[in-house]
Amino acid sequence: MTTDHRQFLSRGGAHLHQSAIRRMGTLAARVPDVITLAAGFPDPATFAWTDLRDIAGDLLAGTDASVLQYGPTRGYGPLVEAVRGVLDSRHIHVAPDEIVVTSGSQQGLDLVARVLLDPGDVVLVEEPTYTGAISVFVNAQADVVGVPQDEEGVDLDALEATTRRLRAEGRRIKCFYVVPNFQNPTGLLISPARRCGLLEWAARHDVLLIEDDPYGVLRFEDSAVEADTRAIRADDGEGRVLYLSTFSKTLAPGLRVGWLVAPPVLAERIDTAKQAIDLSTGVLDQRVVYEALRRGVIERALPRLRQHYRAKRDVMEQCLHESFGDQLRWRSPRGGFFLWATLPPGLSDEGLLEHAVARKVIFVTGRAFFVHEDVHDHIRIGFSTPTPERMREGVRRLADALIAAREPPAAQP
Ligand SMILES: Cc1ncc(COP(=O)(O)O)c(C=O)c1O
Repeated sequence: MTTDHRQFLSRGGAHLHQSAIRRMGTLAARVPDVITLAAGFPDPATFAWTDLRDIAGDLLAGTDASVLQYGPTRGYGPLVEAVRGVLDSRHIHVAPDEIVVTSGSQQGLDLVARVLLDPGDVVLVEEPTYTGAISVFVNAQADVVGVPQDEEGVDLDALEATTRRLRAEGRRIKCFYVVPNFQNPTGLLISPARRCGLLEWAARHDVLLIEDDPYGVLRFEDSAVEADTRAIRADDGEGRVLYLSTFSKTLAPGLRVGWLVAPPVLAERIDTAKQAIDLSTGVLDQRVVYEALRRGVIERALPRLRQHYRAKRDVMEQCLHESFGDQLRWRSPRGGFFLWATLPPGLSDEGLLEHAVARKVIFVTGRAFFVHEDVHDHIRIGFSTPTPERMREGVRRLADALIAAREPPAAQP
């Protein structure tokens, strides 16, 4: 007799939310020679191979057991100090007991959900939003409610109206999740006024903001954008904001090192939750990241990374203009990895994907970034990983797919 393992699943285990982006990864692996415009990965061409080889070699050359030993849950002490320095440069000034080093900011989100959310609590999100965050909040059995946004960021009137409606229904709103800088998936940079409005909203309604900032330092323009990427946490005088960031986009995501900033009481709870999950972020990974910070590897890389991804954005936009004319519309991203394109009327993201897969090119359907809304007129195009040649070919295939998706189905004989 075969065992039905599904019967052993918990309710939570049976209803886990799969990331749409990971699903695209599985699809990509199944289609040979597929060109992926779906990924949000850093470009492997930017990896600091020589520096990382030197660092890893130095760390493993001796017999300093602490390099391979268990470490404190909060993080390797010198790395916590170095992260404080990184935060200072972002105008966020915190004490060490407000920092927890995490296994990527994805784990940071999960930890925050674990300590803040009871089943049925409301988490508000800007829509569209990062699918990985939707998964975390759904898996915590929270009620995730989307609030629309325009070209400046979340619509504050809609936020206020949603808050009042939910409160009138007796719902407990715990937090609002926001990616203010070069959002995944829209590439949007939220305006300073909206950032300020969000802080005021949080204070007025006594709720928290979860600010997720993996892309802020990857800006394509100089000083003007630097001021515009100022973290919401930098202006938070009340402890309303939990701030998350990562070394995934600036050093290497395989190292799985990120961090979060939370008021001491919450940081302590998060530390306790993390003890039960992984005891600590990989110690060797943390040591590598610390050395990369100490030796100035990341600092030196930043101008190059900005220039690199800016050039990739430019190539992608040029390819899209050439292949699509004015059929696709998008707002040029001023940083980050993503371009959010609106399809011509009458075309659906899923319909287009079907034709795209047949032509061996993939993207992420816009629908994946909405919680409940059945919106099908956007696609997310990642420009960070493909080479210019692959971009050109991928966009050409995508344009063919668009033509095919528009053609009426052939009449049956
Ligand atoms: C908005 C956002 N948050 C968090 C993450 C997770 O990053 P990490 O590699 O640090 O876990 C990503 C990764 O793409 C992201 O886009």
